[in-house]
Amino acid sequence: MKRLIDGFGRVHDYLRISLIDRCNLNCFYCNPKDNMTKSVRYNYNLTNDELVRLIRLFVVGHGMKKIRFTGGEPMIRRDIMDLFERVSEIKSGHPFELALTSNGTTLAPHLKRLKELGLDRLNLSLDTLDAQMFEQITGHDKIEPVMGSIETALDLGFAPLKINAVGMRGLNDGELTKFVDYFKDRNVNLRFIEFMPFGNNDWNDDRFISYVEMKEIIESEFPLQSLEQEKHAVAKDYQVIGHKCKVSFISSISDHFCDDCNRLRVGSSGKMKLCLLSNSDSGVNFRELFRAGVSDEEISEMLMSSLQLKDEKHPPVQQLVTFSQNQMMAIGG
Ligand code: GTP
Ligand code: 5AD
Repeated sequence: MKRLIDGFGRVHDYLRISLIDRCNLNCFYCNPKDNMTKSVRYNYNLTNDELVRLIRLFVVGHGMKKIRFTGGEPMIRRDIMDLFERVSEIKSGHPFELALTSNGTTLAPHLKRLKELGLDRLNLSLDTLDAQMFEQITGHDKIEPVMGSIETALDLGFAPLKINAVGMRGLNDGELTKFVDYFKDRNVNLRFIEFMPFGNNDWNDDRFISYVEMKEIIESEFPLQSLEQEKHAVAKDYQVIGHKCKVSFISSISDHFCDDCNRLRVGSSGKMKLCLLSNSDSGVNFRELFRAGVSDEEISEMLMSSLQLKDEKHPPVQQLVTFSQNQMMAIGG
């Protein structure tokens, strides 16, 4: 097994795979403006056979400890359950943590089976508790099925269930304490994420709220106690004192966490990406390599040398806003 170590000594053992670059929601902060009105063609370039090969290559060949499926929305991929069945088999021979990030709109009916198949970690996106605001942010009247998925996940014992909310001034900033109040006695980790700029995603300074400000808003009603940071965590974690719920802040913009990065990504295009916030791909295109009959050994060599190109940290926000190629919709976080 060859560990994936970059030029700064960082060991990469967490792979995020975007399964599809389409979503059944239209959140403006994720879906580029010019995609909104068009009906976007389903676009996923790695078949389940290829994904199984990819996962084996990373887990068996390079010791990945965690694989997370993202999208777009991974659960709208038609053959998603077949993929989980097959990944579950890999997992029984070569243990790793299997994780999913989803918008929760179509998830509830599948959760029991996903649990049986060894889904270990579940993160759901929810930016508001208000049905109208949900529709304003996502373009769809679908808060109810999301809340249903949250309840089902809690009943099935997904713990801690992580709920991701992107903080946006003028939209949900007035609701941050309501969120905490709503989930305070549930086994939930509420994570407030700084709004990040991606190609054409309507990011602007006025909408941005720093984690320090989000934390102050929450602490005005709920005292927080700092918790020890999980290894390689993207979040700063706090216990809501006197309650069950944890609150975290993901400070990508105001206080980056690149020093401890252990993440690699494969986008829905089948190309490897070294950093969420970079404007380019790594040059390793699994789809092309698999279809050209290149062996796993050769691919391993390529990905190890490509990893040496990973930057020490992501560029500052002034540069990020100019990146047009980087689409959250195709990376999934
Ligand atoms: P855990 O496995 O539970 O730690 O999940 P996660 O935080 O890795 O995954 P999730 O998909 O829930 O992502 C939460 C937020 O963190 C999203 O907004 C991601 O874009 C952001 N995030 C994840 N990895 C990185 C990273 O490497 N850099 C930056 N800047 N943000 C990241
Ligand atoms: N800034 C911050 N977080 C974002 N997400 C999607 N787009 C952005 C953005 N522009 C979050 C979603 C999802 C997670 C994977 O990434 O809320 O929960």
